[in-house]
Amino acid sequence: MNNRKDILVTGSNGFVGSFFKKNMNPLTSVFTSRSTADGTISLDLSKYEKLKIFFSEVNPKVLIHIAGNKDVNFCEKFPKDARQINVTATQYLVELCKQHGTKFVYLSTDYVFDGKKGNYSEIDIPLPSSEYGKMKLESEKMIQSSGIEHIIIRSGALYGQNGKFYQWAVNSLKEGIEIEALIDSFFTPTLLDDLYEITVKLLILNFNGIIHIVGKDKVSRYQMISKIADSLAILNPKLKPMTISESGMFFLPDLSLCPDKLNKELKIYTHTLEEGLKFLVSSF
Ligand SMILES: NC(=O)c1ccc[n+]([C@@H]2O[C@H](COP(=O)([O-])OP(=O)(O)OC[C@H]3O[C@@H](n4cnc5c(N)ncnc54)[C@H](OP(=O)(O)O)[C@@H]3O)[C@@H](O)[C@H]2O)c1
Repeated sequence: MNNRKDILVTGSNGFVGSFFKKNMNPLTSVFTSRSTADGTISLDLSKYEKLKIFFSEVNPKVLIHIAGNKDVNFCEKFPKDARQINVTATQYLVELCKQHGTKFVYLSTDYVFDGKKGNYSEIDIPLPSSEYGKMKLESEKMIQSSGIEHIIIRSGALYGQNGKFYQWAVNSLKEGIEIEALIDSFFTPTLLDDLYEITVKLLILNFNGIIHIVGKDKVSRYQMISKIADSLAILNPKLKPMTISESGMFFLPDLSLCPDKLNKELKIYTHTLEEGLKFLVSSF
């Protein structure tokens, strides 16, 4: 008990988790991922016996569970495989948090909603229309019904320096490659720095419950890429508007989340998309 670590973070080699790792104190936190990397312990969360031993050794006060498979198409095609990390691992971690009195911080998603009306608040009833969303909702429910202290954070379309979408858009725009972008699929992009800083604040405030952390603006992919072009001072970017039906792919019309609870109850605010993009360009 004396060696109890403050925080255990999963998914530390991924896009979101590596940002948390970069910013958190390695003396009081432990970082895990399935793969190995400097400062990260390799741990497959779908293997209970090893996980149980490891968790007992670390005995964290707080678990920040970021690991997951967010590939919507993979989850659709191979739900059994994706369940291992998106549901089974959560089930194991809930059990271990119960045993060790650990607070569970879970990173969930806008995909728990059906994506028809948008501007979803915490009191809207989730109704996922994808396997990915169904799995993330199942995990949310397990955590909520477990009786353990928890924070369920729903976020969407995270962007940051190392984000694949952001980097792809920046490179394509700089190289003058034509980009086909959806005009009828909306979301609330969220600066990764905001997600990280607000997660820390919520822990300091000892917040419990469910909260939406998203950027201030709802945009289409087309609008997002136009704004990235603006932030890079690229005039007349080669953007071709496209609709969901023209794309022939799985996209939902409106997955935007409403951050009113965060803003009005907790007086915590995220950045606008313009501010976030400006910040990223200035930190290159
Ligand atoms: N990115 C977003 O816009 C966004 C928005 C809302 C919510 N989220 C949620 O945030 C989480 C992480 O997203 P991300 O963008 O960081 O994804 P990512 O870059 O694909 O990272 C996924 C992480 O999960 C780990 N992982 C996968 N299977 C594992 C297993 N069996 N055991 C242990 N670790 C495993 C990966 O480990 P290795 O890399 O070491 O294999 C990696 O660290 C997901 O749960 C997603 O639902 C993401």
